[in-house]
Amino acid sequence: MKMLNGKTLVLAALCAAALLAGCEAPPPEVVQNGYRGLGMQTNYNTDRLQASLDANVPPEPIPAATPGGPKAKDLYKNVQVLGELTVAEFNRIMVALTNWVAPEEGCYYCHVNEGFEYDGIYTKVVSRRMIQMTQDTNAYWKDHVADTGVTCYTCHRGNPVPEYVWTSDPGPGQPSMIAPTGQNVASKSVAYASLPYDPFTPFLMQDNDIRVIGETVLPQGNRSSIKQAEWTYGLMMHMSSALGVNCTYCHNSRSFYSWDQSAPARTTAWYAIRHVREMNNDYVVPLSEIIPDSRKGPLGDVYKIYCTTCHQGAYKPLYGAQMLKDYPALAQPLPEGGLEAVKAAKEAAAAPEQQAKAEPAEVPAPAPAEAKPAQEAAAPAAEPAAEAAPAEAAPAPAPAPAGPQLRYPPPSMMQYPPAPLQYPPAPAPR
Ligand code: HEC
Ligand code: HEC
Ligand code: HEC
Ligand code: HEC
Repeated sequence: MKMLNGKTLVLAALCAAALLAGCEAPPPEVVQNGYRGLGMQTNYNTDRLQASLDANVPPEPIPAATPGGPKAKDLYKNVQVLGELTVAEFNRIMVALTNWVAPEEGCYYCHVNEGFEYDGIYTKVVSRRMIQMTQDTNAYWKDHVADTGVTCYTCHRGNPVPEYVWTSDPGPGQPSMIAPTGQNVASKSVAYASLPYDPFTPFLMQDNDIRVIGETVLPQGNRSSIKQAEWTYGLMMHMSSALGVNCTYCHNSRSFYSWDQSAPARTTAWYAIRHVREMNNDYVVPLSEIIPDSRKGPLGDVYKIYCTTCHQGAYKPLYGAQMLKDYPALAQPLPEGGLEAVKAAKEAAAAPEQQAKAEPAEVPAPAPAEAKPAQEAAAPAAEPAAEAAPAEAAPAPAPAPAGPQLRYPPPSMMQYPPAPLQYPPAPAPR
């Protein structure tokens, strides 16, 4: 008995020492995500991972609508985006939007008493654009969101304004007489590092180089400075904490620059940055005129999207839960003929593929050259979306062709890794 007590004491002392030394109590779970022996791994605290898993459970899908029946455009008066759905599917989507965005407020968060057809409240006009943004994301940004895709819930989680958004930040108080450089104050946006606290405007709105290493040896034209490096690191801190990962989830730390040595997730992140830029510039910012001041930041700009808006600490939002498959209306802009036409186009595209099944479909993503024509085909489809109030006669976009469609060419300096190794899969979702 005495012996045991002694042992327990020693153990307790060791534990306390370990805690003081900064070790965490449950042994971390280590998931390898790059080449062996390079520390390209993610360490998870099992308690915190469990809490995060519990906080990222999607709601149960709403039962499927009865097929057939009249089209929404034939029954309703002012349906500009979802008119090709059957009335049953349209109403199902209305219930879903309510659950995802305004569960407490209900239908009248977006509708006025005079009738459902009126656009008398800004939330309805915003929602119409949000539906288009969601469809555009799921159809044209598969290089980022794959088939997992997004729904309103991915960002909103039952809140009218998503919990994780950003606005331009005047920053913490600066000593007078000194022009603020936007840094040297520990800030939450960059994981409490004293890095520039608004790395979002230059990179998630504007198209500035995200670089540390210059592309030229000579000083002429080489704009890679320490200051630029600090902004880059600010963004990287945000990306890491948004996804709940270390730098080595994407980079091999012996060369942060080299694409050849990076993990595949870095290529996905490259697309993600362009995707977020597009959502902010083409969808959210143009809504500024109708969004009331109470919904804006201290400098009067609207709340915008960054990595945390969807990811919320998970390497894939909702740990990769496949919500979109239950809401096909949000998977692409609806062509004439609605979901039936989408299905028919998919089947037609799949038929020749099945015949020539000699080559097992491996990783379809990295073929940017091939995807270029598709990019052009995709452009007009997105165009009617450009105005805040889309003309009711917007031409129905052609059914989305299968395969990846890249809006932007890959960066000139980027060498796609030939994927010499099979990376182990990311941690299994619950
Ligand atoms: C988050 C916003 C939002 C919520 C909540 C919402 N709706 Fe809607 N509703 C819209 C939008 C946007 C449209 C227009 C869709 C379009 O243009 O294709 C619309 C259109 C409609 C229409 C078509 C009216 C017409 O004649 O043009 C009906 C009917 C409707 N909604 C019913 C409902 C019902 C019932 C609920 C509650 C269960 C609801 N909506 C909740 C955003 C919302
Ligand atoms: C990628 C993230 C994202 C997705 C997906 C998304 N939203 Fe939003 N939504 C936002 C952001 C960010 C704002 C805040 C804009 C602002 O108010 O400045 C917003 C604002 C709104 C508002 C205004 C709320 C208010 O009270 O001011 C409504 C309504 C809305 N969204 C509806 C929807 C609907 C419906 C969907 C799905 C079809 C959707 N959103 C999908 C990010 C998203
Ligand atoms: C989710 C993936 C991801 C994570 C995590 C990540 N990065 Fe990056 N990093 C990228 C991408 C993508 C780029 C290139 C961006 C571009 O060119 O648009 C990049 C670029 C960089 C560069 C510039 C390299 C050059 O070409 O000069 C540095 C340095 C860097 N990251 C450091 C870090 C550090 C430090 C961390 C951890 C705090 C980190 N990154 C975490 C994806 C990631
Ligand atoms: C509109 C919501 C949304 C936003 C905003 C978003 N992501 Fe994603 N991201 C997703 C979805 C959905 C997936 C899952 C795709 C899949 O299943 O492969 C994903 C997957 C990823 C992956 C692949 C992870 C893996 O293990 O395969 C990376 C890396 C990533 N996102 C980086 C980013 C970065 C960096 C940002 C900010 C610049 C960002 N994402 C913003 C929705 C989003």
